[in-house]
Parts: sequence; structure tokens; C-alpha cells
Amino acid sequence: MSSIPNHVAFIMDGNGRWAKKQGLQRLLGHKKGADVVKSVIQQCMDKGINYVTLFAFSVENWKRSSEEVSGLMDLLRKYFSAEFSNIMEKNIRVRFIGDRTGQSKLPNDITDMLAGIEERTKDNTGITIVFAINYSGRDEIVRAAQMFAEDVDASRRYASDFDEEVFSDYLDTIHIPDPDLVIRTSGEQRISNFMLWQMAYSELYFCETPWPDFTEEDLDKALESYAERDRRFGVA
Ligand code: IPE
Ligand code: IPE
Ligand code: MG
Repeated sequence: MSSIPNHVAFIMDGNGRWAKKQGLQRLLGHKKGADVVKSVIQQCMDKGINYVTLFAFSVENWKRSSEEVSGLMDLLRKYFSAEFSNIMEKNIRVRFIGDRTGQSKLPNDITDMLAGIEERTKDNTGITIVFAINYSGRDEIVRAAQMFAEDVDASRRYASDFDEEVFSDYLDTIHIPDPDLVIRTSGEQRISNFMLWQMAYSELYFCETPWPDFTEEDLDKALESYAERDRRFGVA
């Protein structure tokens, strides 16, 4: 098995605390965090990682102040409009996971923007970057189960078809391999409803560095830790 993970997922945490420590508004922490996203994508490309997932906004994050939420939505608009040409130039395929159904709280222009980016990058053959936006693991599993049930109701499926492989195809991550390594920054050692199904056998790495300060050195430490692990997948 390769010592370089095929898929690395990041729980990008600590933007707010980073900003507070510098006496800045939380949103400035998110802004700095977006710059780190650009660098980390390049670093992962250089290291030969094929899939990178970035947890950018959770379903639970709607509970934050309306000021922070609208600031984050604006940052998404700005990030993708500034980065789109770079994404195409670097042959990056972009996928989004998270609720983008009509009932979701995402503003329509953002839902449309994400669909457009996915469509326009779908034939790119370089690294795949997966942005988790309005995402939570339980929400994804419930939406997938609802879609399967609708297919059963409509006689497109039998209930007896249901197994892990079939179910995986109803998840937002269809055709995306499970993460090999999940990195959470900023000291908290929890999953916060991220990729619950997909992380069944992921290696976990927690570091103290807040996301806005995350450097290539931090990434290298995580990858070194990963390379030393013995993944057994239940086999003795
Ligand atoms: C992560 O940083 C970014 C998002 C959740 C959008 P936080 O905003 O959670 O920063 P802390 O954890 O409050 O420091
Ligand atoms: C997880 O971070 C969500 C993202 C990184 C987008 P949170 O900061 O929202 O998680 P909790 O509240 O510390 O569990
Ligand atoms: Mg946080």
C-alpha cells in the first residue's frame, strides 16, 4: 500500500479562534483560511495526492450569527470567482458534497454556482477537490436513504437490493473513494458530523495548528504520521 494517501480530507478548524487571538473579526480568520486552502491544494497536487476533501461549511454552521453566515457565503462567492481560471488551468476537477436540494438553506446563486463549477470541471483529469458545503454526515445519510426509499416506492429498486455498495451510490460522494487520512486542525479531537459513512476506516490525525496557520510543514507531519501507520482493516 502506498505511503502517500490517495484521499486526504481536512476538517479546517480554528479560523475564529485564530482571528480572536490577533484581535480581529472572525471573518478575517475565514479569509485567511481561504488563502490557506489555495496553498494546501497546490501542496497536495505536488505530493501526488489524488483526492482532497475540504470541510468548508456544515449543516450545523447555520446556527452561527447571521453576520458570520452571510460573510462565509460571500467568501464562497469570492473564492470561486477568483479561483475558477486557476482551477481550469491546473486541470482540477471540483466536486461538492452537501445538501443542494431545493429545501436547503443555501442561497440560490450559490447552488447554481456550485452546479456550474462541477459541470465545467467534470472532464478535468487532474486532482479532484471535494468541497463539503452545507454538509453533515447524518444529513447525507438521511437524504441517501430517502432517495433509495423513493426508488423503491417508484418500483425502480427492490428493498432487497439494499447493501453497502448500492447505498454508497446514493451518497453525495458517489465515485469518490473513502478518505485514507482525515486531518483536523486546531486541537479539537472530534468528527463534528463529517463523512460518517466514508470514514469507517480512515486514519485520523489531529494537530494543534489553527487552520489559518497551517503550513506545508504541518501537512508533512501528518503525512509522515500516516506513512508510519499499519492499516489492518480488521484483518489480523
Ligand atoms: C472553521 O473555523 C471554519 C468553519 C467552521 C466555517 P471555525 O469558524 O470553526 O473557528 P473556531 O473553531 O471557532 O476557532
Ligand atoms: C466543523 O467545525 C465544521 C467545519 C470545519 C466546516 P466546527 O467548528 O463547526 O465544529 P465544532 O462546533 O467545533 O464541533
Ligand atoms: Mg470550529
